[in-house]
Amino acid sequence: MGTSEQVTTRGATELNELAQRHLWMHFTRMGAYDETHQIPIIAKGEGCYVWDASGKKYLDGLSALFCVNAGHGREELGEAMAAQVKELGFFTNWSYAHPKAIELAAKIASIAPGDMNRVFFTSGGSEAVESAIKLCRQYHKETGNPLKTKLIARDTAYHGTTLGALSATGITGLRQPFEPFTPGGCHVPNTNTYHLPDDPNRDPLWAAHAIEERILFEGPDTVSAVILEPVQNAGGCFTPPEGYWQEVRAICDRHDVLLISDEVICSWGRLGEWFGAQRYDYLPDLITTAKGITSAYAPMGAVIARDKIFEPFSHGTKSFTHGITFAGHPVAAACALANIEIFEREDLNGHVRAHEDAFEQMLLGLRDIPIVGDVRGAGYFRAIELVKDQDTKESFSDAESEDLLRGFLSGALYAEGLICRADDRGDPVIQLSPPLIAGPEEFEFIEGVLRKVLTQAATRL
Ligand SMILES: Cc1ncc(COP(=O)(O)O)c(C=O)c1O
Repeated sequence: MGTSEQVTTRGATELNELAQRHLWMHFTRMGAYDETHQIPIIAKGEGCYVWDASGKKYLDGLSALFCVNAGHGREELGEAMAAQVKELGFFTNWSYAHPKAIELAAKIASIAPGDMNRVFFTSGGSEAVESAIKLCRQYHKETGNPLKTKLIARDTAYHGTTLGALSATGITGLRQPFEPFTPGGCHVPNTNTYHLPDDPNRDPLWAAHAIEERILFEGPDTVSAVILEPVQNAGGCFTPPEGYWQEVRAICDRHDVLLISDEVICSWGRLGEWFGAQRYDYLPDLITTAKGITSAYAPMGAVIARDKIFEPFSHGTKSFTHGITFAGHPVAAACALANIEIFEREDLNGHVRAHEDAFEQMLLGLRDIPIVGDVRGAGYFRAIELVKDQDTKESFSDAESEDLLRGFLSGALYAEGLICRADDRGDPVIQLSPPLIAGPEEFEFIEGVLRKVLTQAATRL
């Protein structure tokens, strides 16, 4: 894509050498890189586009990692952070408050659903999930239910990597190297129906009812919370069937189980609303968020709680016995406030709602390519499941997935100038999550690259 330009002071080769010698990249097979296999180094960003260290331009179809929601190169976010550094570079939320954390908490409360009026900041998504898990446990202890400690999550869901959050993450390969976890993590089916046989008699809310069955199996007196994403990312954008969230809400109420909506990805416009809970019209007890809260210009996360969750901690000698030095960092909070201003000024949520159908139609149009199976998602959060056979929906074996995704697709898409994600944490999928400012021009480019590369992939089989 485009022409190359000089974007770094150090040359690409030197950066590569240094990275290969010193940088330990996350979830990355470092052994895959050597003199001939270079680490992708992204050095510059503007709008929906980024440039690598050698000056090649790419469309950022993943918002880096589902997080640069307002797009790259927003100088005003940098200016807001610089102004905050001049005023107060750092103070903590641990026993103290500072103006920007207060203003941001009030702003979030004003846009969050229902009576979600209390904000506990963290430094990122895993910490938000970890904090929510601990908050639920302590809430039950403070309200006379000390045995309520278990957490129900869904198969293949990703809720982060700290040991507590990992007990909720339902991806075997990410769990096994670190077992045992904090006890109590249980898993139920997610809402994916693509591979289920057609059955007109199937309970349309079977996946919600599986949660209740699990609560009853575990014993309601032992279950603390259910944690779910509005649209589940891992496995490829599993959307909820009509009425799912309302049913889960009723089940949780019946058994005094708290409902955590993990919106680390699904908030801040990703689904065309501030929060995913607003898109599907339910009121969770807690929302966990991160990523797009600052459009990723500064690390930040939060747990947003309903009044009833805060109540036991609001009087006497009680406190939530948990804290993180950098959580609510004033520079990150200033960034988040400026980011929300951009959202409001440019109506980014409205922009997503106005263009999401065109995005979906473009992806559905790729179904004439034999390996394009299911196309699913909501807002600017979409996935294409790849199959061996569209009619039988037969999936690829692990070895075939490895060859297709890592051996071909990831490299070919990147070489064509499109950053997206080829993921096989469940069945193999291509995931797309462009900045919320993307529109017809970007969709056309994505379409062109996907058509070319997926057609080539189909002929390799
Ligand atoms: C739903 C969900 N929860 C939690 C996390 C963990 O967030 P972080 O990587 O900021 O720790 C992620 C990260 O992608 C996520 O998608």
